[in-house]
Amino acid sequence: MNDLNCFTLRKILDNCHDEIFVVDNKGNSVYANKAAEKNYGVKVSDLIGKASWQLAEEGICSPPITPIALSEKKKVTIEQTTRIGRKLVVTASPILDQKGEIDLIVENSRDITELKNIKQDLEVTRELLEKYKREVEVLRKEDLNVKNDIIANSKQMCDLLDIVHGVATTDSTILILGKSGTGKSILAKHIHKISKRKDGPFITINCAAIPEQLLESELFGYTPGAFSGASKNGKVGLLALANNGTLFFDEIAEIPIRLQAKLLEVIQGHRFTPVGSVKEKLIDVRIIAATNQKLKEMVNNNSFREDLFYRLNVIELEMPPLKERLEDIIPLIYFFLERYDKKYERNHDFTEETLDLLTQHDWPGNIRELEHTIERLVVTVKDTVIKPKNLPKIFHDNSKSQFHVSFPSFVPLDKSVEEFQKQLINKAYKQFKNTYKVAEVLQISQSKAYRLIKKYTD
Ligand SMILES: Nc1ncnc2c1ncn2[C@@H]1O[C@H](COP(=O)(O)OP(=O)(O)O)[C@@H](O)[C@H]1O
Ligand SMILES: [Mg+2]
Repeated sequence: MNDLNCFTLRKILDNCHDEIFVVDNKGNSVYANKAAEKNYGVKVSDLIGKASWQLAEEGICSPPITPIALSEKKKVTIEQTTRIGRKLVVTASPILDQKGEIDLIVENSRDITELKNIKQDLEVTRELLEKYKREVEVLRKEDLNVKNDIIANSKQMCDLLDIVHGVATTDSTILILGKSGTGKSILAKHIHKISKRKDGPFITINCAAIPEQLLESELFGYTPGAFSGASKNGKVGLLALANNGTLFFDEIAEIPIRLQAKLLEVIQGHRFTPVGSVKEKLIDVRIIAATNQKLKEMVNNNSFREDLFYRLNVIELEMPPLKERLEDIIPLIYFFLERYDKKYERNHDFTEETLDLLTQHDWPGNIRELEHTIERLVVTVKDTVIKPKNLPKIFHDNSKSQFHVSFPSFVPLDKSVEEFQKQLINKAYKQFKNTYKVAEVLQISQSKAYRLIKKYTD
């Protein structure tokens, strides 16, 4: 130490990362190293020689530490904020003379601004995480409980639900086929809800809604910096999110052929590799897929992998179109009427004729179309009774409900009789739903009723 001259000592102190600030026994500053300049944004020369109250008055930093150290005569540590917004942890260490009086006070300040910012970010992130957790809980409850009642009154739907209840508790992969709006998605959720995975997540991947370039990273996730434009923190994929739950691939026919191979690996091996990673991850998920496409035909023309098709198609469920399950129409109408009357605080009912017209509609958009129709009626009909005139025009155009037949003049007799017969059979069959009853009301034999129903109903 003897070899260190004043110049070297200053050099050492000016290269200290921490600020060293020294005051005398009156609280006047006698020394500050270079680090002080970046903490307060002033020159060292503007600090030296000033009393601590003066520096406090200039707002250099607060709260001041010197008065505390002077009165307590022992080491103190506090946090300070400087005039340029830096956050410091300052320790003031008094040096006492032989009489125990203060000779000098050495104050050491460490800049903890970044640390503070990180801490604050962490707190905000924690709060957000809690908030999202709660939101997910609420959403999951709403999604899986409130909206998940499945109306099934027709034989087709009851049979289908019987099969579903048999297979829901197993982990077998299920493929749900059916036209758009027939209830494929709601059935997938229902299967999850009654399966042993019901407390785990239910994650839907709509293969048609996610652009092809994004699908892979959405599905498998990626490691930090896996590709340009990727988030620097990486991303957890939907596969990983679905762990211990059910993964529902909606519109599976839309999945690009390249990803079909990767998906096959996931189903076969219960493992996947995030984009940019070399480490495989194990997952435990049940897979349900749905499509409104003819997947088998796609296999035949090579746009869907055959091996993947058979992996998905372990159990195949086909949702019949609504017009093939007439007995579900009225229960569904009342189910949605109740839902939307409640939502819009209304109280409606239908006349018999309105129900007739609704039952006889073809419902090309299936249950989704029916739901929208009922919601629209609830919102638009001011009266409490919904009458035929309230129905959109299309319900009147397609109406097959009138028994009186009107034909343009000079229609061949045979044709007119045939048309009349067709309408009569249709009406009777829609109302009674069995050949025995139709035969009875039309006073024909049951075999004739059967033959005519087969001929005329679609
Ligand atoms: N059996 C049913 N009971 C009650 N609501 C249903 C039923 N089937 C479908 N829905 C409702 O009809 C709408 C369309 O069904 P969705 O499952 O989305 O059809 P898809 O997936 O086949 O296009 C949804 O709002 C759904 O909740
Ligand atoms: Mg769907």
